[in-house]
This record gives sequence, C-alpha cells and structure tokens, in this order.
Amino acid sequence: MSERRLSESGFPIKAVYDAADLPADLDSRLGRPGEFPYTRGVYSSMYTSRPWTMRQYAGFGTAAESNARYKQLLAAGTMGLSVAFDLPTQMGYDSDDPIAHGEVGKVGVAIDSIEDMKVLFGGIPLDRVSTSMTINAPGSVLLLLYQLVAEDAGIGGSALNGTIQNDILKEYIARGTYIFPPKPSLRLVADTFGYCRKEVPKWNTISISGYHMAEAGASPVQEIAFTLANGVEYVRAALAAGLAVDDFAPRLSFFFVARTTLLEEVAKFRAARRIWSRIMREEFGAQNPKSMMLRFHTQTAGVQLTAQQPEVNLIRVAVQGLGAVLGGTQSLHTNSFDEAIALPTEKAARLALRTQQVLAYETDLTSTVDPFAGSYVVEAMTAEIEAAAEALIERVFEHGSAVDAIEAGFQKREIEASAYQVAQEIDNGERIVVGVNRFTLDEEEPYEPLRVDPAIEAAQADRLARLRRERDAGAVERALAGLRTAAAGTENVLYPMKEALRARATVGEVCGTLREVWGTYRPVERF
Ligand code: 3HC
Repeated sequence: MSERRLSESGFPIKAVYDAADLPADLDSRLGRPGEFPYTRGVYSSMYTSRPWTMRQYAGFGTAAESNARYKQLLAAGTMGLSVAFDLPTQMGYDSDDPIAHGEVGKVGVAIDSIEDMKVLFGGIPLDRVSTSMTINAPGSVLLLLYQLVAEDAGIGGSALNGTIQNDILKEYIARGTYIFPPKPSLRLVADTFGYCRKEVPKWNTISISGYHMAEAGASPVQEIAFTLANGVEYVRAALAAGLAVDDFAPRLSFFFVARTTLLEEVAKFRAARRIWSRIMREEFGAQNPKSMMLRFHTQTAGVQLTAQQPEVNLIRVAVQGLGAVLGGTQSLHTNSFDEAIALPTEKAARLALRTQQVLAYETDLTSTVDPFAGSYVVEAMTAEIEAAAEALIERVFEHGSAVDAIEAGFQKREIEASAYQVAQEIDNGERIVVGVNRFTLDEEEPYEPLRVDPAIEAAQADRLARLRRERDAGAVERALAGLRTAAAGTENVLYPMKEALRARATVGEVCGTLREVWGTYRPVERF
C-alpha cells in the first residue's frame, strides 16, 4: 500500500480515480490549447512547434567568469541566458561598500556599473538571445544597463528579449532582497512597465514568482494563490499609475517551482493558467488574449536536493523537469545535482542541461499538447487545486490588498505552518527523503565542490576606483540630481536613471539616491 495518501496541498489522493471524479463541466474548463482559459497551454501548438526554452540560471564571481560560463552553456545548447547576481548587487550596494564585505561574487555575479555589464555580455549577440535577470529591487537599474550595453553594440531596445524578475512583493514575503518600502517599490514597478512598453516592447517586465515561497515551504496551493494575488496587486498598481491593462499585461510573466510530486505539480500549473486567465478577463476586462496567458518559467525544487548521495539528485531533477514539461512550462531551469553542496561545477551544470535535452529530444513529450488532458486524476487534482487556490486568494484580499496581508504577516504565517509540517514529517519518517531518513549510507563519498576566489572583492574594488577616477564626476552628479528630482516627483524615473548609468554612475549610487528619497523597507515586527 502506498505510504503517500495526502497531496502536498493537503487533500487526499485516492488509490483509484474514475469518470465520476472528472469535473462536470470539463469541456468548458479545458478549452483548446492556446485558447481561453488556457488550461491546456498558452500556445495552440506548444512544444510540437517549439520546445520550451532551456534556460539555466548561472552567475558567480566576476563578470568575466560568468561570461565564460554563459558561453559554455550556449555552446552546450542552452537556448536562453539566466543571470544570477551576487547579494550586494541585488541589494543595490557597490562591491566596495562595507556592507558588501564577504558577499562579493558569492551567490552570483558582481555588477557595479556599465563597465561590468559590458564584460558580462561580451561576445554574446544580445539581439539573438533572450536573457533573464534575477534581480528585484534594482531590476530597472540592471535592465537599463543591459539596454545601454546593447545600444553601444548598435542594438536598439525593440530588438531585446528577456525578463527581469522585478517581483518585490515576494521579496517581502520570502526572499528578502528588498530595498524600498512597498509604495515606492510598486511605483518603480509601474514605471518599469510604462518604460518598457515604449522603449523595450518585447521585454517581459516582471516574473511574478512562486518559486521562493515554495522553497520557503509553501504548498502548491499556497504557491499559486500567493503568487497570483501578488500578480493582481501589480496589475492594480499599473492601472492606478494610468496604464491600460492590455498595454502591459501581455508582458507579465510568472515563475514557479517543480516538485518531485509530479501529478500534483502538473495539476498546479494547469489550475494556475485557468485562474489567471479568468482574473484578467473578468476582473480587469482584458481584451487582448495575450493579457490572459499565464506564461511561466519553472525551476526544479532546490529545497528537495540533498547533500547526501548527491547523484540521487539527478533522478529527482529529471522527475521534476518532467512535471514542468507535462505542465506546459515556457522556460525551464533544471538544478545541478551538486547545488545542495556548493555552486555547480561545469560538469554538473552540463548534466542538468542534458536532462532537459533528453526530455526534449529522446522522449515523445514534444509530440503532443497537454497529454494529461482528460486524465481522471489530473483533472480532479486540477479542479481541487483551483478551488482551494481561489479560496486562499480571497483570504489574502480580506486583509485589503496583498500588501496589507503581507504587513499583517498573513502569507508568511501560512507558509511557515506548511514548512513546519513538512519538517515534522521528515523528522518522524512519515515523509521519506531517500539518502536522508531512509536508504542512507554509513559513509558518504567525498565530493570536491567549486570554490569562488575570495580575491574577487579586491578586484572589484579596484575596478570601481578606476571607474570613479576616469568618469566625468560633474556629469554623474548632475544626472543623479535629476534622478533625485524625478523620484521625489511623479515623472517616470527610468529615463533620468538611464542617463545616470550612461554617465557611469554605479548601481550603488543610483540605489543610494533612491534610498535618500524613498527610504528603506522595515519589516513589521510581530511577536
Ligand atoms: N507557438 C507560437 N509561438 C511560440 C510557441 C508556440 N508553440 N512557443 C514559443 N513561441 C514564441 C513566443 O510567443 C515568444 O514570442 P514573443 O516573445 O514574441 O511572444 C517566443 O516564441 C519565445 O517563447 P516564450 O516567450 O514562451 O519563451 P521565453 O523563454 O522567451 O520566455 C517567459 C519565457 C517565462 C515568458 C520569460 O519570462 C522567461 O524567460 N522567464 C525566465 C525567468 C527566469 O529564468 N528566472 C530565473 C529565476 S532564478 C531564481 O529566482 C531562483 C534563485 O533565486 C534561487
């Protein structure tokens, strides 16, 4: 008898499903692939005409080291870039800021200025790749640096494809790389939507993320409910800023996790598409079909990787990647098997990509669309998750806005309760983690991880000193003054921000200027 009777979202999984478990109005719930409510996928042909984007998250050390890794990944067949930034960059501090000590180049690449960005993308054709950047509070700053580097290479904004994560609300809930308080943060997101519509029209302006909330312990229902509630908040902020829904909604994107519990994950993705399409059409009156399409990236669950018997993670990641593809993801990152230990080695990163290539080119997954359509269990789970997620979205908005719920600690408390339950189940053996609480080894085999050279901090400080020596200090000062004025007013801040960055203002100086005007976020203390 299977030992797993409850789903990750807490509802019972029947030993046998049959026609009686199918939702009554299945046809209208399903629709056709590429048509409202998009349950079966956002494109009519899905992978039969183009596989998902194999987009491996990477970045560490200096821009030169990361540039080398991107070229290795492109040579190995990755179809899109995905930049990981170090914490100082994500928090809007320069590498020579005392607060950055010990973190420079550690969990991602250190980017302080346009000079570093030029090195990061040196030799990469920005009009032919799509680049995702996992950057939130300073998302607009890194987007502008990317655009400036492209301009220097003669590539205009209309030719650029990519995404900035730019999802500040989940940072307050689960990830923590926030800078400004919610109000100016949402203003900056709306300014970015407005700027991209005019200047970088094919850019995905935000990647509304459930991944990090899932990694913090959120169940599948919590993951999509809190993510879609955040999405509603962003749409409301953009409408309040005077934008029309079909002017920005087609460029919203999402980001979810793929857990090892494959059936429920497939149902989760299908439910999320159906909920979002209805929200956009019925609550916001979107007319453009692209405004109703929930396009998303998936990353396999980092929290389910084990440091014990790390090669077992190859199998977990393959199952998780399979779930993402069966669920209709547009873009996928498969974790490297050694990431529970340290930054991935080149071989581990290549194996992670090869996992996707086996799924895309050796299986029959790209031969047909939404293969689980009509499945007793997956359709029943899709309906169950949909109902539970919609009810949870309602509970978020009972607080007023998603920001009000965040400040009341609602999402955080719900996620912590789920995390605690999973931890208890692992501790008491109810939840089997192979190699950790079952099927363990007396003696773990040694594994040599990749190490980042600590000298990078000094090297970055030298680069910054030279940049400050050689640039026109007066031009920088004038440009930052213009940014300060815009931030204190209602003008779109991305235009003066771009001029400051062009004059070689640093990421830290731009974010510091905004901190002076907008202040910094202080989490509400709850005891
Ligand atoms: N039929 C018709 N058109 C199709 C098609 C099909 N079957 N398949 C693809 N296309 C078209 C699309 O319409 C698109 O054209 P358009 O841009 O003109 O609309 C083009 O082909 C590319 O397809 P997608 O947009 O579907 O794929 P992309 O890969 O370009 O974009 C995305 C996917 C989800 C929309 C985008 O936002 C994206 O790439 N997101 C990635 C986010 C990411 O990588 N995040 C990493 C986060 S790491 C992190 O935070 C975790 C860390 O903290 C631990």
